[in-house]
Amino acid sequence: MINDKKVLFSGMQATGNLTLGNYLGALKNWVTLSDEYECFYSVVDLHSITIRQDPAELRKRARNLLTLYIAAGLDPEKNCIYYQSHVSGHAELAWILNCFTYMGELNRMTQFKDKAAKHADNINAGLYTYPVLMAADILLFQADVVPVGKDQLQHLEITRDIAGRFNGIYGDVFTMPEPYIGKQGAKIMSLQDPARKMSKSDENPNGSIYLMDDPDTIMRKCKRAVTDSEASVRYRDEQPGVKNLIDIYCACTNKTPDEVEKEFDGKGYGDFKMAVGESVVSVLKPIQDRFEQLLKDKAYIDGVIKENGEKANYYALKTLRKVQKKVGFPERIR
Ligand code: TYM
Repeated sequence: MINDKKVLFSGMQATGNLTLGNYLGALKNWVTLSDEYECFYSVVDLHSITIRQDPAELRKRARNLLTLYIAAGLDPEKNCIYYQSHVSGHAELAWILNCFTYMGELNRMTQFKDKAAKHADNINAGLYTYPVLMAADILLFQADVVPVGKDQLQHLEITRDIAGRFNGIYGDVFTMPEPYIGKQGAKIMSLQDPARKMSKSDENPNGSIYLMDDPDTIMRKCKRAVTDSEASVRYRDEQPGVKNLIDIYCACTNKTPDEVEKEFDGKGYGDFKMAVGESVVSVLKPIQDRFEQLLKDKAYIDGVIKENGEKANYYALKTLRKVQKKVGFPERIR
């Protein structure tokens, strides 16, 4: 607990262009939850270098992502928005937790298997221990709740296993975190292949709507979205393309699938796709405008980075010192 509130932690990688999936699956819920919890939202740049990055590009993307958190509606006065690399406790705790994680557990991680297959020339140890760093992120802040999309659930499970193991040996050191999965938009699929999730690294740009896509591009991508020959807007597994579009529409308008089926009863896919596109534009356009505004205010963003970085360090150190003591590291002499 911090200030009598439960703690929330989440993060996003500054790699590739953020997609509508990132927004609807995570960022949107972050904003909704931000009043209820004491929140820490990190730009997880340590995770990003598990895949080779251009340094200047990574720096720029990280700053853009931090700015985007604010543009999406997170108030940095109330929410701690910071760079993971500015808080050395992440890496220090990750090292300790590495020694409490089994290779057998890491071998089961599907994201590692996917990424290793995609980057066969660079299967580095960081990619392998990525989930341990993620566990460290969460446990460092004693988070009660972690809002993520469905694809991160396996990482939340291993985090809980590691926390439970550590607590079993040393007493109640870590809060046991719970995942928070939004009712809508927890797994947005590719517009071109509804069997795959919408992803930043999709080779087909028509499969993903990017957060910075302009309205025309968004409308075009929605119009081209793969559907089927049923010609009816129904929310069912047999129509995965339409189901995905309904998910997007629901998440953007806060309607339920039932309401959407009724709304488009007897109407064709053309009308439906237009409505989906318009709902996405109406959600993304204000964020894009605010983002452009904020980018110009360098001093303001610098201030957020400095102050929130210090705040994150303060809470991180509290946990880190406790853990260091528990495992038997010598006390610091002041
Ligand atoms: P990342 O950067 O891949 O994705 C950020 C968030 O977006 C969600 N997401 C989706 N949700 C719905 N549909 C989609 N198609 C979709 N694609 C992505 C993800 O589930 C995630 O919530 N390992 C994490 C970052 C991380 C983290 C953490 C998260 C590092 N440490 C600690 C929570 C807590 C990742 O790579 O997310």
